Amino acid sequence: MTRRPYIVGNWKMYGTRAMLSEARAIDRAAQRHMKVEVALAPPYTLIHPIHREAEQIAVGAQDCHHQDGGAHTGDISAAMIADAGAKFVILGHSERRQDHGEGDALVRAKAEAALAAGLRIIMCCGESAGTRESGKAVEFVKQQLTASLPSAEAMPADIAERLTVAYEPIWAIGTGTAATTDDIGEMHACIRALLVDLFGEEQGRDVRIIYGGSVKPDNAAAIFAVPEVGGALVGGASLTADSFMGIALAASEPFEN
Ligand code: PGA
Repeated sequence: MTRRPYIVGNWKMYGTRAMLSEARAIDRAAQRHMKVEVALAPPYTLIHPIHREAEQIAVGAQDCHHQDGGAHTGDISAAMIADAGAKFVILGHSERRQDHGEGDALVRAKAEAALAAGLRIIMCCGESAGTRESGKAVEFVKQQLTASLPSAEAMPADIAERLTVAYEPIWAIGTGTAATTDDIGEMHACIRALLVDLFGEEQGRDVRIIYGGSVKPDNAAAIFAVPEVGGALVGGASLTADSFMGIALAASEPFEN
């Protein structure tokens, strides 16, 4: 099945209410690019204001807690972000894994909580420069994903609707140097095989696998032409409507995911 390319902006810890005009511009532009599914993950504080105004784009969060509620000062549950208007959550991003010591088991618990709250999840995976240099990138990513994703039994029936996998090599994030199309192609093919193993032929084939790490308007078309690339998770270049929608435009030609 050919799905619409999925282009997701990850604003990280950028954005105050002054950025709402940029979100508005992205939403307006997304209405002109209906062949592409555009979504935005702003900081928590902007989820509700963007959700209230957006007509086209889905709004999501960049993380959530693995429990429903309780004495966890400073944390936010999946149900709370859903209540604020989030439709999805990014989980297991390497910056969370590094900055907050999140391991695979915690990421999996967060995924289960998010799915139980009715959210879609974007599960991130990716190797460090050292792991790639040692020739173990594929092995590492397969292991990381297997341990971070909920088991098939814990997944909802519509797995392909609810799950997206984002391959984000750590050394490509925010560096200006994206992975080569060969490396992306090799990794996405391995991730596809793993998803089929984990979730069966029908569902495993339909889960979108998106690439992240220094995607820009000028390299996007080449990345989207790689087999098994179903879209992009975009950090820096999602902060302005111009560059983000330049990437969406590159994805608006139909391609196989
Ligand atoms: P980048 O970030 O596009 O700035 O490299 C991607 C990400 O971390 O999701």
